Amino acid sequence: MKLISDVLIVGTGIAGLFTALNLSENLNITIVTKSTLTDSNSYLAQGGISTAYDVNDIEDFVKDTLHAGNFKNNPSIVYMVAKESRDVIDTLINFEVKFDSLNGQLLYTKEGGHSKNRILHHKDYTGKHVIDTLITKLKSRKNIKILKNSTLVDLIVKENKCLGGTFIKNNKLIDIYSKYTVLATGGIGGLFKNSTNARILTGDALSISLRYGIKLKDIEYIQFHPTALYNKTSERMFLISESLRGEGAILKNIYGQRFVNELLPRDKVANKIWNELKEKNCKFVYLDISHLDKNYIRNRFPLIYNTCLEYGIDITKDPIPVRPAQHYYMGGIEVDEFSRTSMDNLFAVGEVSCTGLHGNNRLASNSLLEGLVFGKRCSDYINKNISSQKIEVLKVDKNIDEIILENKNLFRNTLRKHRSDINDELI
Ligand code: SIN
Repeated sequence: MKLISDVLIVGTGIAGLFTALNLSENLNITIVTKSTLTDSNSYLAQGGISTAYDVNDIEDFVKDTLHAGNFKNNPSIVYMVAKESRDVIDTLINFEVKFDSLNGQLLYTKEGGHSKNRILHHKDYTGKHVIDTLITKLKSRKNIKILKNSTLVDLIVKENKCLGGTFIKNNKLIDIYSKYTVLATGGIGGLFKNSTNARILTGDALSISLRYGIKLKDIEYIQFHPTALYNKTSERMFLISESLRGEGAILKNIYGQRFVNELLPRDKVANKIWNELKEKNCKFVYLDISHLDKNYIRNRFPLIYNTCLEYGIDITKDPIPVRPAQHYYMGGIEVDEFSRTSMDNLFAVGEVSCTGLHGNNRLASNSLLEGLVFGKRCSDYINKNISSQKIEVLKVDKNIDEIILENKNLFRNTLRKHRSDINDELI
C-alpha cells in the first residue's frame, strides 16, 4: 500500500505529539505508532517537566544542567533550551494541561541535581496527564491521520534524501511518502533486562540510521535511574520517582543506615547504590518516605502509593526496596538546533535524538522539556520551509525479512561494542 502525506511523524511520545500539534493545520500529517497512542516513555513519566522558574533562573538552570551532564553537554544548546522553556510550558497550559497549583500559583518540586524547585508536575503521573491532554487535542485536528500498530522497518531514501518511511502492519507493508519525515521513536529500554521503559522501545530507528550512515552521537551515554522498584517478577521495572527524594525521602542500606546525599545528580546516586549492593552483597536498598504525613503522601504520590500497595508495600509505613535500572538514552541521532539530522528532509526529536542538552547524564525532568523545545523548533522549521518541497515516489525492491533482522541486531551490537561493561544488562 502507498500513502502520501506532507509530513510523516513516527512516534507518539511528547516530542512527536508536540511536533504534530505545532505544525500548520494546512498541512496533511500522518503520525504513526508502533503500538497504541499511549505506549511511550513520556506516558510513564512521573516527576514532571523542568523549566526556568523565571528569567532570573535561566543561568542557574544552565549551570545545574551542565553540572549534572558532567560538562559533556553543548553549552549553547543548554542555554537555548533553558531560555525557551517557559514558552513551551505556556503552550502546554494553553492546551489545557493542568499542573499542580495552590491558590492559583503553580507548585514547583525539586529533584536530584537541581539547585532549586523548578519542576512542574501533575501529582506523580505528569506524563500520563500531559499525553492524554495532547492526544485529545490531536484527535480534534482534521489534518492529522493516526496510524497505530505499525512498525517502522525502513526509510525511503534517494541520494541521502529521506522521501518517507516503510511500515509493517498486520504483516502488510505500507510505504508512506512525505516531504519531511520526523523520527520521534523514543528510547532503547526494550534492549535491557532491567529498565523503566516501555518494552516496545528497541532502538529500531537507530539501526535504520546505522544502515544509511545517518550520524549518531554519544552512543555510549546510557542513564540508569537510581530507584526502580525491586521485584523479581515484573517485565518493566516500576519507577519510584526522584520527586519522592525531592520531597524528603531518604535512601538507606539494608541495615537501615543512610549512605548518600539523595539529591545528588542521578549518576552519582546510582553509583553509590551499585557500590552498596556490591559491598553488602544484596539486591536492593531502601527508599523511605514514611516519616512524612500519610495524607500528604497519598495525595501527592497516588500512582506510586497504589502501585506499591499492589506489591504489598504501604509506603506511608514501609520503606520501598529499590535498585538502579536503565532509564534514559542520552546518545542518539545527532541533530542541530532545528532537529535536522545528517540526512536531508529527515528530523529527529525527543529521546531518539542527541541534541547535546544532556551531556553524559541527563538532569532530572529535562527529557519532556527537550521533547517540547525541539518539537516546537522542528515544526517551526517545517512550517517555514515546506512550500519549497515536493513528494517524490520511488520504486524500490526490498528484502524485508533481511531488513527486519538487521534492525533487530545492528544497534544492539553497536551498543555492545561501545559499552562492553554493561553486556550483562543487555538482553
Ligand atoms: C522521575 O520521576 O524520577 C523521572 C523523571 C526523569 O526521568 O527525569
